[in-house]
Amino acid sequence: MRISTRRLLITEEDRRHETRIPEFDEAGGWSGIFPDPDAPLAVEIGFGKDTHILDQAEAHPDRNFVAFEYQRKKFDKVLKKITRRGGLPNLRLVHADVTNSWDHLFAPESLAHVYVFFPDPWPKARHHGRRTLNPEFTARIAARLAPGAPLEVRTDNVEYVEQIVEVLDGEASLENEVAPAPWLHDPIPLPEGSPRRHIPTLFESKFREQGLPIHYFYRRKRG
Ligand SMILES: C[S@@+](CC[C@H](N)C(=O)[O-])C[C@H]1O[C@@H](n2cnc3c(N)ncnc32)[C@H](O)[C@@H]1O
Repeated sequence: MRISTRRLLITEEDRRHETRIPEFDEAGGWSGIFPDPDAPLAVEIGFGKDTHILDQAEAHPDRNFVAFEYQRKKFDKVLKKITRRGGLPNLRLVHADVTNSWDHLFAPESLAHVYVFFPDPWPKARHHGRRTLNPEFTARIAARLAPGAPLEVRTDNVEYVEQIVEVLDGEASLENEVAPAPWLHDPIPLPEGSPRRHIPTLFESKFREQGLPIHYFYRRKRG
């Protein structure tokens, strides 16, 4: 088997879809970066090679989107996919460990939606501390959500489900949109005309094809 270590050639045009922290600081925040500084801001954590966030940005030109991925190869692939679509002025990708830059990049109660889809399960017990949805980081996500704003989580991983339920239920500032069910096995039914839409991710489609159950969590910030 040949393993490719070649980096994609990133052009100036591709680079326009990325925001680095010094650029963010220089611009004075997202309002200095997006063409519409007042549009609601939604965030995806860990997009991998998936294009859910590109589809959301296309479907909602009246919203701004920021998405994180810390693996450079996957990140670059998605930069290129944005270029292939002709660019998306309301979407910026950040190549960073989200847990390091989260508080710096987003003001308290400023986010209109947060998506965490198929976070790495870190199956070994000694690695559980690396899971994104731990009590500490979930509290930091919740602190940045505006009152009433949704936090959506999807996972196939039965073991991680237990931790996700515990962590989400343990975060007092979040309420469960689908209570009394802790999660759904299908996407939440959305009323006609709802601005929200369900867009399956790469991992979701792969697991569905394999017949694996998916767990869909729908929480929102109280208030
Ligand atoms: C299992 S993949 C899921 C990809 C995509 N969301 C999907 O559903 O197809 C999880 C991704 O999250 C990224 N990730 C995990 N922890 C992260 C972190 N702290 N900051 C940024 N990206 C992270 C990983 O590199 C990986 O690409």
